[in-house]
Amino acid sequence: MKPKRLRRCQLSVPGSSDKMLAKAATIEVDYIFLDLEDAVAPNRKAEARTNVIEAIRHTRFRAPTIAVRINDLSSPWAYDDLTALVEGCGAALDVIVVPKVMGPRDVEFVDRLLGMLEARHQIGRRIGIEVLIEEVEAIASVEAIAGASARLEGLIFGMGDYAASQGMRVSGVGETDDYPGDLFHYHRNRVAIAARINGLVAVDGPYADFRNPAKYRKEARRAALLGFAGKWAIHPSQIELAETIFSPDPATVVRARAMADAYAAARERGEGAINFEGNMIDIASVRGVRELVELADMIEARQASVAR
Ligand code: COA
Ligand code: MG
Repeated sequence: MKPKRLRRCQLSVPGSSDKMLAKAATIEVDYIFLDLEDAVAPNRKAEARTNVIEAIRHTRFRAPTIAVRINDLSSPWAYDDLTALVEGCGAALDVIVVPKVMGPRDVEFVDRLLGMLEARHQIGRRIGIEVLIEEVEAIASVEAIAGASARLEGLIFGMGDYAASQGMRVSGVGETDDYPGDLFHYHRNRVAIAARINGLVAVDGPYADFRNPAKYRKEARRAALLGFAGKWAIHPSQIELAETIFSPDPATVVRARAMADAYAAARERGEGAINFEGNMIDIASVRGVRELVELADMIEARQASVAR
């Protein structure tokens, strides 16, 4: 069984910034990942790795899930990232985020190496994996990637690198410019479908223009409609935007429960399709209810534990 985690927002925190690491610990958000990859300059990779390990060992983060994004597997840093993280803070690390995967082999490799390191350091729990789908090769093999490891928990669509990988002429990270419709519709959809087939969570990547909440909301909403569970934040101001978009609002939960009750009563009467508040509902209408209610319950439980 994969751990159930809230992922309405995943906050990225540069591993080389003591200031942001300290601030991150105080932030109430579903999920934080400490970044060793693109937010860290090449000449500070080793220092960032040490900072991140120390932070995970000694800091009490308010976020219930703590992850680290390592460097990509073709880089000179990935091996040290993985080995040092598991040895240094493996028991407190929930998830390793692997960027720029090129195919299922990359996921299998990280899975095996993590298994060896957990055994070597007697880590009594299984560290999860999330991968960034941000290369054309990864989109082309996303279903195989999604099925490559039992540790895999989520797929993240990384539109910044992806746009570069495909040669898209966009104006910034997460921008879709004047493309008619949604420039990333195809990619998000493939990621969402591959995730669902394999019981994984799909998460939408960054939007860099952090002073543009309207556009952030628009992108988050597009992802939510396709079945994504959340979106990255690169700045604290984006957290609330993501949490609002990816939380079912109370009225929706109440209505979903009422619909499920009405459908159950109809079925007792021998009716398969009924009129519910002027809409046709049938078994397809109530399929998503359990998932919606489960998410609402998880959010409520989180809010209760924060209040204590
Ligand atoms: N995590 C934790 N704290 C953050 C943060 C983050 N991602 N982004 C900003 N903050 C903090 C700042 O340190 C500042 O703290 P203070 O009020 O104690 O001084 C506060 O939030 C407000 O930040 P602000 O001054 O508006 O932004 P900035 O100019 O300091 O930083 C960025 C802007 C974009 C450089 C910064 O948000 C950042 O580095 N984000 C993460 C980038 C990243 O991880 N990229 C890789 C993934 S795409
Ligand atoms: Mg990237």
